[in-house]
Amino acid sequence: MNKLYEKIKDQFPMLKTQMNGKDLVYLDTAATALKPQTVIDKVTEYYTYKTCNVHRSIHQLAENVTSQYEETRDCVKKFINAKKREEIIFTKGTTESLNLLARTLGDQLLKAGDEILLSELEHHSNIVPWQLCAERTGATIKVIPLNDQGDLDLEIYSNLLSPKTKIVSVNGISNTLGTINPLEEMIPEAHKVGAYFIVDAAQMAPHGSIDVQKLDCDFLAFSAHKTFGPTGVGVLYGKENLLNELPPFQGGGDMIDSVSFEKTTYNKLPYKFEAGTPHIAGVLAFNEALKFIENTGSQNIQNYENELLIYAIEKLSKIDGLKIYGNPIKRASVLSFNIENVHTHDLASLLSMEGIAIRTGHHCTQPLMKRLGVFSTARISLSCYNNFKDIDRLCDGINKVKEILL
Ligand code: ALA
Repeated sequence: MNKLYEKIKDQFPMLKTQMNGKDLVYLDTAATALKPQTVIDKVTEYYTYKTCNVHRSIHQLAENVTSQYEETRDCVKKFINAKKREEIIFTKGTTESLNLLARTLGDQLLKAGDEILLSELEHHSNIVPWQLCAERTGATIKVIPLNDQGDLDLEIYSNLLSPKTKIVSVNGISNTLGTINPLEEMIPEAHKVGAYFIVDAAQMAPHGSIDVQKLDCDFLAFSAHKTFGPTGVGVLYGKENLLNELPPFQGGGDMIDSVSFEKTTYNKLPYKFEAGTPHIAGVLAFNEALKFIENTGSQNIQNYENELLIYAIEKLSKIDGLKIYGNPIKRASVLSFNIENVHTHDLASLLSMEGIAIRTGHHCTQPLMKRLGVFSTARISLSCYNNFKDIDRLCDGINKVKEILL
């Protein structure tokens, strides 16, 4: 099924580059995805020929760019199957989207004795905003534990839910283990006790199709840069009635209806949450990223990534002393591992000399590291622009590292 790779590989100029004199093998997509040429060109086009602000001036240039900017909103709406374009807020990224929710929803809703339910698989950006919110409001954080397989313990999840639970915030896919969480089971349960359900979809958006109406999540956050788009752009989806009930997050231009020193009124959705000049080039280019996914087919992407994943597990498992963390029921193309007696940072540095880019460290999931009983892991994350040879190169690289260090 290298067909998909053959079809798209020429669209990614980074694949033609080298690192340390060797052809680049990029296995760090969970950190940020490579960009197709169309995305890069769009950014250049904006700064070269189309520079202007959006939603303000009425000259032709501004009108054209504003309509392109708004077109991206329509594409995001379609991408996640939201009911309305007003439900799509542009932010700086997943982190800002989650902070927005903690500051607005969290601060407005929570009081002492209320509970926020997170999971042991969360990224720091879905932990720390809630800790800060808990400090402000007196709410308590509860944690859904992980079983030894790397799946969330759903029995304990059910037991942790109670009328005290006001917010459940969980990722769709773990950035460290690749676990695909059963959101379709978890969301209705949270709703039964009256809690809002937030999905951190940072790793979900690039790997598969999202249908917010089918999921019935209340809010969902993701970043453009992990979804083949530019850095500095993200999305917050929220159900329209809920977003309307929230107070603004940041004050400034574009988020107001009228301002006087006596009283300010706010703009309608989605602009109420989009204060200040946004990342215009980024939003325009994000549309190209979404077109890339649409043209390639998210199901095709998922199927191909799954083949790569199976191959990677098979090959890595044959390496002596290599331990893969977790064996979840469903897994996206992300794998964490360690090699006996090899420090992860040494591994990453030596692989880098071979042209192979992987991530090592705690992956912004220190509580998960504690659960796994390690300080760090090596992580590979695969995308549709990888091929089977990349995995062969990785395994050869690991064997070479072992020869050097052991
Ligand atoms: N959250 C990103 C990662 O997992 C940066 O690498």
